[in-house]
Amino acid sequence: MAYGLLKGKKGIIFGALDDRSIAWKVAEHCHAEGAEFILTNAPVALRMGTINALAEKVGAEIVPADVTVQEDMENLIKVAMEKYGKVDFILHSVGMSPNVRKGRPYDDLNYEYFHKTLDISAMSLHRLLQACMNADAISEWGSVVALTYIASQRTYPGYGDMADAKAMLESISRSFGYHYGYAKKVRVNTISQSPTVTTAGSGVAGFDEFIGNADRRAPLGNASADACADYCVSLFSDLTRMVTMQNLFHDGGYSSVGEAPQGS
Ligand SMILES: NC(=O)c1ccc[n+]([C@@H]2O[C@H](COP(=O)([O-])OP(=O)(O)OC[C@H]3O[C@@H](n4cnc5c(N)ncnc54)[C@H](O)[C@@H]3O)[C@@H](O)[C@H]2O)c1
Repeated sequence: MAYGLLKGKKGIIFGALDDRSIAWKVAEHCHAEGAEFILTNAPVALRMGTINALAEKVGAEIVPADVTVQEDMENLIKVAMEKYGKVDFILHSVGMSPNVRKGRPYDDLNYEYFHKTLDISAMSLHRLLQACMNADAISEWGSVVALTYIASQRTYPGYGDMADAKAMLESISRSFGYHYGYAKKVRVNTISQSPTVTTAGSGVAGFDEFIGNADRRAPLGNASADACADYCVSLFSDLTRMVTMQNLFHDGGYSSVGEAPQGS
């Protein structure tokens, strides 16, 4: 059911690769709520994924951008501003660890890969926000949301160096939220999502086991990608204007459970 919560709002959505991607669901829900937006992903992902089908469905333009390349980020923002003037919302749904992908455990990291993990999965949020601020690309009371995972705060050994990237991502969201809030009343938050079956999610060692454990331990069960999209819509809407610099758990209660006799 749609409520017209994003009627007239313009945005940018990073990270829709295929129809399992969380960003894909967010794009569908934003479209249903009346928003217009640009879809963006790395050039290689545009070739490998199925984003064209999504773009057609939601009437969006696709602008390629590798989040580690400054010129790509600046060009994306330039195109968005030519199209919309300022944007009202941005979804950062980007993550990749070459160490995780190549099965390197946390105590045997390749440091070139580690740099790449941090650049793609964390520093990219800073790069995005700084480029937006320099171009004055986000409207007052605009909203930026990045997706994170609880391994930033508690140890999940199979999550490898992505845990460090997520800790940095959450910190950048808080720190930039301070600066952007004072400067332009722009909100910046992270959503800490349940484990979800997607290309990025399934790459984590032991994923099947920990998605099942989380589902049993969460009183409401794991939150789906569709439910995450609903939460993103609420954060892009005017109903959450005073929420910023927060890490918001969207996990069926999992993060607050100590002992779960019913869930073991
Ligand atoms: N799936 C989960 O269990 C889960 C749980 C919590 C948080 N998250 C986070 O949600 C976000 C989206 O992941 P997902 O699970 O939908 O998987 P996904 O694989 O569908 O999305 C990850 C996206 O990052 C993009 N990307 C990678 N490198 C890039 C680059 N250099 N430039 C631009 N884009 C690049 C990929 O192309 C892909 O579209 C990630 O930040 C992920 O860490 C996922």
